[in-house]
Amino acid sequence: MFCRKMTEMRRISRLAWSCSLAVAATALLVLLAADVAEANESFAVGRTSFGDATATFYGGSDAAGTAGGFCGYENPFTRGYGVTTVALSDSLLSNGLNCGACYEVKCKWEASDYTKKYCYQGMTTIVSATNLSPPGLNGEHHFDLTYPMFVKISNPESGRIPIQYRRVPCQKQGGIRFSMVGNPFWNLVLVYNVGGWGNVHSLYVRGSRTDWYYMNRNWGQNWQCSVNLTGQKLSFRVVLGNGQTSVFNNVADSNWKHGQTYEASSNFW
Ligand SMILES: *[C@@H]1O[C@H](CO)[C@@H](O)[C@H](O)[C@H]1NC(C)=O
Ligand SMILES: *[C@@H]1O[C@H](CO)[C@@H](O)[C@H](O)[C@H]1NC(C)=O
Repeated sequence: MFCRKMTEMRRISRLAWSCSLAVAATALLVLLAADVAEANESFAVGRTSFGDATATFYGGSDAAGTAGGFCGYENPFTRGYGVTTVALSDSLLSNGLNCGACYEVKCKWEASDYTKKYCYQGMTTIVSATNLSPPGLNGEHHFDLTYPMFVKISNPESGRIPIQYRRVPCQKQGGIRFSMVGNPFWNLVLVYNVGGWGNVHSLYVRGSRTDWYYMNRNWGQNWQCSVNLTGQKLSFRVVLGNGQTSVFNNVADSNWKHGQTYEASSNFW
């Protein structure tokens, strides 16, 4: 139920297409439409020119309070994100689908006398989305930055500030990583340290003796599929939020274990 072969996904998409041409308004079509939604290959590409948002900060200079969170990265320090993280309003985080995305932010110096007093004009910083924050006071896109990131663009006495943000490629050290966090009956995979567009849009897994299987996003950047892959080498096919796709072959050896993290020898750039 949680696992569909990639070849089946394609067949279902084609079927749904011919059905809709025939306007076959049957219960079957409703079922097929639900399957197609899983395989939704449209990409919500974030803005790459600066747009408006608001920002606050949390924690202290050590970014305390960063652990846990909506994306499933648990401790961003051990995941390589360090203090360069941000909690985003759902208008940008998209229920976790945009976890891992990178943004360049700057204080909107020209906004008012207040911002001219507190903003550091011309300063920008780059952060990765690792958690969920409430929206701005008037429903704006909101960035709740760690203190060390906030003080790069504004005097912290300012509190809440208008900012500008844009999506930028993520620069990561080393390969893309896959944490096997499920159990022998249920594979749950956390994908992190994703370079390039940064957020995973869809994920497929293949054991050395199986076909490719589509994984459903469970929450944050955790993906699930209940096919038995014990004793097989694991390969992953990763589709990013901008549609860029890459196959990472034999990331985990056949003796892989749940609770372990496996790093590919390459990444997206
Ligand atoms: C596909 O995803 C886009 C963006 O996330 C969404 O707007 C659209 O409604 C989805 N389409 C289907 C058929 O689920
Ligand atoms: C999964 O497959 C392995 C190897 O074939 C087998 O030893 C194991 O019992 C299977 N596990 C489950 C949960 O079915």
